[in-house]
This record gives sequence, structure tokens and C-alpha cells, in this order.
Amino acid sequence: MPQTLNTPFILVTGGTSGIGASTALHFAHAGASVLALGLDAQGLHAPRHPRIQCQELDVCDSAQLNQTIEGLPRLDALINAAGISRHEKEYQPETFMQVLHTNLTAVMQASMAAAPHLQQSRGCIVNVASLYSYFGSKDRPAYSASKGGIVQLTRSLAQTWATAGVRVNAVAPGWIATPLSEGLMADPEASAGILSRTPMQRWGQAAEVAAVIGFLCSPAASFVNGAVIPVDGGYLTV
Ligand SMILES: NC(=O)c1ccc[n+]([C@@H]2O[C@H](COP(=O)([O-])OP(=O)(O)OC[C@H]3O[C@@H](n4cnc5c(N)ncnc54)[C@H](O)[C@@H]3O)[C@@H](O)[C@H]2O)c1
Repeated sequence: MPQTLNTPFILVTGGTSGIGASTALHFAHAGASVLALGLDAQGLHAPRHPRIQCQELDVCDSAQLNQTIEGLPRLDALINAAGISRHEKEYQPETFMQVLHTNLTAVMQASMAAAPHLQQSRGCIVNVASLYSYFGSKDRPAYSASKGGIVQLTRSLAQTWATAGVRVNAVAPGWIATPLSEGLMADPEASAGILSRTPMQRWGQAAEVAAVIGFLCSPAASFVNGAVIPVDGGYLTV
């Protein structure tokens, strides 16, 4: 991966598929070097670009997560996009904890490990929340709890590092076409329910979320801190 001292360096967890992969491509197209961490790092959905390095890493492996981030030469933005949903299995304690660890605890760990780099670069963090940050869900209690937690963690860390020049924000994607949502998209009844409530009457694209993440990391967002921006075609307005 080509890198000069002045090239912005972006880390994307969950960068090997879906929204994270699109975000990695967004930054690479803009000239940054990107490290995309995730599972199935050489798989079908992993982004391919000369400035993107995909690395297999389980964000629940705290030691490896810390070591990887601490060992970076520089860091301008951390995008926490890794996330899982386990549906009704989330009523089992082990699965509940696994989802919380992946979607929430690992975000805290990555953010803490990244903080010294980001203070040096006056960089930023963008977390990926969800519509389930606003709604409860009887179908996925851990996912919903983790995404509710992401909003408050975003607001808390936004306060913590504000005077150190590090901004922390989140996007809350609506229904986005990615491998995670494939099952729902393929279910005609569920998909029709989603589309009928979405004022824009369509699924969102991962690139449309990536563009808002890009905005939050740009100088245009220099006074945006602790914000959670819905990217949902208007779903939350109904
Ligand atoms: N697709 C949607 O409609 C939607 C809506 C709202 C929020 N989100 C959120 O967006 C984020 C990305 O989801 P997506 O739709 O792109 O899904 P996806 O399944 O396409 O991608 C998820 C990514 O997370 C990674 N990941 C999962 N567990 C991991 C682990 N233990 N360690 C490291 N990486 C891990 C995967 O490897 C993959 O790169 C998630 O946080 C998800 O909750 C998605």
C-alpha cells in the first residue's frame, strides 16, 4: 500500500464488506490510504483498490485490536463499522454478549487505542449506529441495545476528546442493501413493509452512507461533534 508521510490514513473496522467496504473505497478514491479490518478479508465483498489493505482481524480479540491500532504509523480517522445481528438467538446470554462485544465494546476499545494517534493528527471517529438506536426490537434485543449504546458512547467520547481536537460522530443508516440485509431484502413481505414506510420508497446504497461518513471526516464538518446523522431516506420522519 503506497504511503507518504502526508497521505491521510484511515482505519475502517468492518471494512471488508458492505458499508465499511464502501467507506474504504470512498476514502481510497479521495487519495487516502486505508486499512480495512474485518472477517473474510479476502472474500467476495472485500474492497479492491491499490490504496486499501484488507486485514483479517476479529474486533473481539482485544489484544490484537489494540496491537494493530497502536502499531499504526499515523491515523487521521477511525470508522467503526463492524457489526453483527443474531436475531432471536440474541435471547441466549452468550449470543447477547457476543453481539454487545462486537457492536459496542470493541468500538470503545478501538477508540481508546486510536485516541493518541487522533490527538496528534486532530482526527476524528465516526461510529455506525442504526435505526435500532431509536427503536427497540423484540426480534434482536442485543443488536438494538448495542446500537442504542453506540449513540451514547458517541456523545460521551465527543465530550471527552473535544478539547484535544478529536471529533466523534455517528451515522444512523436506515435500510441499506448490504450482505447483512440480504435476508430481509429477499423476503417480499418484510421488504414491502420497509419500502412502504420509507418516504423515498427504496433501499439505500452503502455508498450513500459512506458519503456521509466522508463528510463527517472532512473540514466541512469541523464544528460537528457528538452528532448522529440518519441516512435513511426519511424513515425516521414517519
Ligand atoms: N445494512 C443495513 O441496513 C444497516 C443498517 C443500519 C446499520 N448498519 C450497520 O452498519 C454496519 C455495517 O453493516 P453492513 O450492513 O455493511 O453489514 P456486512 O455484514 O456487509 O458487514 C459487516 C462487517 O463487519 C465485520 N465484522 C463482523 N463481525 C466482526 C468481528 N467480530 N470482527 C471484525 N469484523 C467483524 C464483517 O467482517 C464485515 O466487514 C454494522 O455496524 C451494522 O450494524 C447496517
